[in-house]
Amino acid sequence: MTSSTQTIPEVSSIPRHVAIIMDGNGRWATRRYLPRVAGHKRGVEAVREAVRACAERGIEYLTLFAFSSENWRRPEEEVSVLIQLFVMMLEQEIVKLHANGIKLRVVGDLARFDRKLIELIQKAETKTAGNRKLTLTICANYGGRWDIMQATRAMLAARPELATSFTEAELTPYLSMAYAPEPDLFIRTGGEQRISNFLVWQLAYSELWFTETFWPDFDARTLDQAIVSYQSRERRFGRTSEQVREAERREDAAPRIAPAASLRAMSADK
Ligand code: IPE
Ligand code: IPE
Ligand code: MG
Repeated sequence: MTSSTQTIPEVSSIPRHVAIIMDGNGRWATRRYLPRVAGHKRGVEAVREAVRACAERGIEYLTLFAFSSENWRRPEEEVSVLIQLFVMMLEQEIVKLHANGIKLRVVGDLARFDRKLIELIQKAETKTAGNRKLTLTICANYGGRWDIMQATRAMLAARPELATSFTEAELTPYLSMAYAPEPDLFIRTGGEQRISNFLVWQLAYSELWFTETFWPDFDARTLDQAIVSYQSRERRFGRTSEQVREAERREDAAPRIAPAASLRAMSADK
């Protein structure tokens, strides 16, 4: 993982890494006089759509917040349905994901799950490990603070000599998503504008995009709205606008803004 605070990352018109807080399942269902869990079930379809659309657009990493370390506070029955849906995805969707060249990773404090689920996760990860089209990361029992704590503990266990002092570069290899670049684009559906203990370290320089759309209604069009907004941002990483433009001239960089027509064509072909 290259660190945005250590080196200025390369910026391209299509984000390399998109991270999403899939929120609003419960409200989607409540508005329809359905039980909250009906929203979670419909949310699975939106996950399929998001994976497909990201792969089509050449996004390399898609990270989805499926269950937070604080979601255990919910009614037991709802927690149990969320876990069942996760198991179902690991059992049934994995074949399709694999056929489409998707590599699956699951990150979070997995120790809290039962053995059968942990084995399913390991099997799915092993099966898809060689795939290159898109890396799909599911954050399950994940918390940004947990991640920083577990990284620190793992680093100190491996390198006790760092106990008195260590650098950012020494810590970051132990973060749970060290295999991926930091997210370029963060999306949260459902109208709330907060991070809710998602990737608190990795989002340091991500572009943030919020939509009122509830997660079950998320589709390729919503994704394209987020990408268009992303393409209008100037990612300065602490520099001035003039420095950014000068760096772009020097690198003779590819244009930061993709032709709007090609993006329209992508969303039309669904
Ligand atoms: C997101 O939808 C799914 C999870 C947190 C697992 P919510 O269930 O939070 O839906 P709202 O926010 O209550 O509408
Ligand atoms: C964040 O959504 C967690 C996931 C989407 C998995 P929440 O619905 O749990 O977040 P808060 O409680 O509104 O902040
Ligand atoms: Mg919510």
